Amino acid sequence: MKNFIRFSAFLFYFLLVSLLSHQTMSQPQHIHTFCDNLSETFSQTSQYKSNRETLLSSLRDRSPLGTYYNATVGLSPDTVHGMFLCRGDITKQSCSNCVKTATLEITKNNCTYTKDAIIFYQECMVRYSNVSFLRIVENGPWAAMYSNVSFPDSFLFPFRETLSDKVEKLIILTASKSSLSSLTPYYVRDRNKVNEFDRSYTLDTMVQCSPDLDPANCSVCLRLAVQGVSSCCNNARIAQFFLPKCFLKYDTFGLPTTQSPSGSFSVHAMKGEQA
Ligand SMILES: *[C@@H]1O[C@H](CO)[C@@H](O)[C@H](O)[C@H]1NC(C)=O
Ligand SMILES: *[C@@H]1O[C@H](CO)[C@@H](O)[C@H](O)[C@H]1NC(C)=O
Ligand SMILES: *[C@@H]1O[C@H](CO)[C@@H](O)[C@H](O)[C@H]1NC(C)=O
Ligand SMILES: *[C@@H]1O[C@H](CO)[C@@H](O)[C@H](O)[C@H]1NC(C)=O
Ligand SMILES: *[C@@H]1O[C@H](CO)[C@@H](O)[C@H](O)[C@H]1NC(C)=O
Ligand SMILES: *[C@@H]1O[C@H](CO)[C@@H](O)[C@H](O)[C@H]1NC(C)=O
Repeated sequence: MKNFIRFSAFLFYFLLVSLLSHQTMSQPQHIHTFCDNLSETFSQTSQYKSNRETLLSSLRDRSPLGTYYNATVGLSPDTVHGMFLCRGDITKQSCSNCVKTATLEITKNNCTYTKDAIIFYQECMVRYSNVSFLRIVENGPWAAMYSNVSFPDSFLFPFRETLSDKVEKLIILTASKSSLSSLTPYYVRDRNKVNEFDRSYTLDTMVQCSPDLDPANCSVCLRLAVQGVSSCCNNARIAQFFLPKCFLKYDTFGLPTTQSPSGSFSVHAMKGEQA
């Protein structure tokens, strides 16, 4: 009987785990979609629309093959440029799933007739535009997702400094991984113990740039992300910041807290300039 209960508990746990992992596998977590149908629209029958379809389907087709791809379809003035970028720490399968979902969702709702749009998920981003964006670093739109558990005020400045120093170090490492031939170009993750005053905690930091940027613009982008996350996110202990060309995520563990260490998450997103 005892064994049976143990077995049932095991089975239940196993089912729960596979259910959860299946869910994260098949359901990318949407953060925000940017498209403004008050300007730059096209008509239902336009060549632009069919070029966009071709573009998005080529992004879908390429999504099992890597974490980044760009494509351009059609002749002027109906040229459509597009790309996808997946987070460096997810599986090929999750990347492809995310890009497939994103390329379908990006033509819905307000985006149906807009000439450019960008959609952010936790796992990937997809965008298209009539204007070429390759090699250019942009400071918006941006989206952030952050925990409602904050650093105490007294800890804020040291933390910002620590995060910024950390990202500067990671920027140097990303440059050595900028080549498109590396498996996950421009992706670096690092976990270390931070000792500040009388406290210590673990800081887990992840940075990534889109491979179309050169190393100098990758650093520009990541510095914008540090600035952005420092001003947007209520001093959150856990946050992710997405720009069109780069991504920053940090996680902190081991600081005393009276609440659950992660709490609940909010999203803050803005078109145009950074926070
Ligand atoms: C993109 O579309 C907008 C709105 O129709 C237009 O003003 C702009 O000239 C286009 N840009 C290019 C490069 O085609
Ligand atoms: C913008 O999208 C909304 C919702 O999809 C729609 O109701 C509205 O008519 C659209 N406006 C324009 C100018 O296309
Ligand atoms: C569509 O656009 C309108 C006007 O820009 C905005 O108020 C509305 O929230 C948008 N709807 C969606 C689903 O994004
Ligand atoms: C870096 O980005 C800027 C736009 O922010 C662009 O004008 C410039 O050409 C880019 N540099 C390189 C080397 O691609
Ligand atoms: C665009 O994609 C092609 C094909 O993958 C690649 O060779 C090229 O380097 C990419 N260009 C940029 C600027 O990322
Ligand atoms: C964070 O959100 C959770 C769940 O909504 C709530 O129980 C908790 O009190 C919140 N914490 C703070 C610091 O607001």
